[in-house]
Amino acid sequence: MKVNIDGELRHLFAVWYENDVVKLIDQRKLPERIEVFEARNSDEIAFAIKDMVVRGAPAIGVTAAYGLAMAKKNGENMDEAVQKIWRTRPTAFDLFKAINYIKANNFDMGSARRYANEISGRSKKIGEFGNELIGKNSRILTHCNAGALAVVDWGTALAPMRIAHDQGKNIFVFVDETRPRLQGAKLTAWELGQEGIEHAIIADNAAGYYMRRKEVDLVIVGADRITANGDFANKIGTYEKAVVAHENGIPFYVAAPGSTFDFSIPDGDRIPIEERSEDEVLTVNGSRLGPERSHAKNPAFDVTPHKYVTAFITEYGVFRPEDLGRMKSLMDRDLFMKDVPISTV
Ligand code: MRU
Repeated sequence: MKVNIDGELRHLFAVWYENDVVKLIDQRKLPERIEVFEARNSDEIAFAIKDMVVRGAPAIGVTAAYGLAMAKKNGENMDEAVQKIWRTRPTAFDLFKAINYIKANNFDMGSARRYANEISGRSKKIGEFGNELIGKNSRILTHCNAGALAVVDWGTALAPMRIAHDQGKNIFVFVDETRPRLQGAKLTAWELGQEGIEHAIIADNAAGYYMRRKEVDLVIVGADRITANGDFANKIGTYEKAVVAHENGIPFYVAAPGSTFDFSIPDGDRIPIEERSEDEVLTVNGSRLGPERSHAKNPAFDVTPHKYVTAFITEYGVFRPEDLGRMKSLMDRDLFMKDVPISTV
């Protein structure tokens, strides 16, 4: 991802390994400042994932892979290290895929680097396939942050937009603010701004207004877990956007790499949904909302049934939900994806 630092465009990754340390752009601090968080052991990796220093399904996976390879180099107890990281966040399938991958490769740092490079290369492919779906002057709506910060580089939902922009397609992006943690307003808007992509942040509940007025041509979102029938979990609020897009005849695309597909689960009802602290809903930038005695509920994700999905944009191509069997057979022949034993929470 290109980032403007002191007037100079620099290339940054969301996660990398350097001098025996896993380094993460601290996503809690954006957009105010770019700060690097350093994790030196599996406790610090688990903290970083749970506290959302790093977030977004593929980036969580890459952090886990680097973190476990680092833990092995540190001489940590690997059963404990795996357990600690396994229990951080339950919904994103990439976490479990990455843990199983690095475990199957003996926690080797070379394999962790390969995992990171694969995920980044695959997200570029998602960008290329997704770009084909974007016409000139398209107005695109996205929810949460499925950008380079959520992957390592490129992004999933944002990768096609980056390429479309580079090709001069003159796109405009509606960025849902994404309460309660504001990943859209804080992170997606920041990423788009760094690359000069035209956008506007909208309140989450304004999306239907623009869709009904036909001011949105297509929706592209990421995913945290996609099941065999094409149901998928993504940031809370995604379901509503999909229903409203369907109601208004607006194509709704889900961009994700193979590592987000959990073919061991038949449908979305079996996806574990993370419930986070009520404080995330009750406070905004440290100020409390609502009466002192009120409580809040805070599911971090929702499940969208496959009937609302126009197609999945993956590194293997673009697939309608009913064609996911074809995608699975391509994935089964893909050595990088195939060799990983599936076992989840
Ligand atoms: O809670 P978060 O910020 O980790 O949730 C992130 C999302 O819901 C993203 O859309 C998803 O992980 C895809 S990221 C390429």
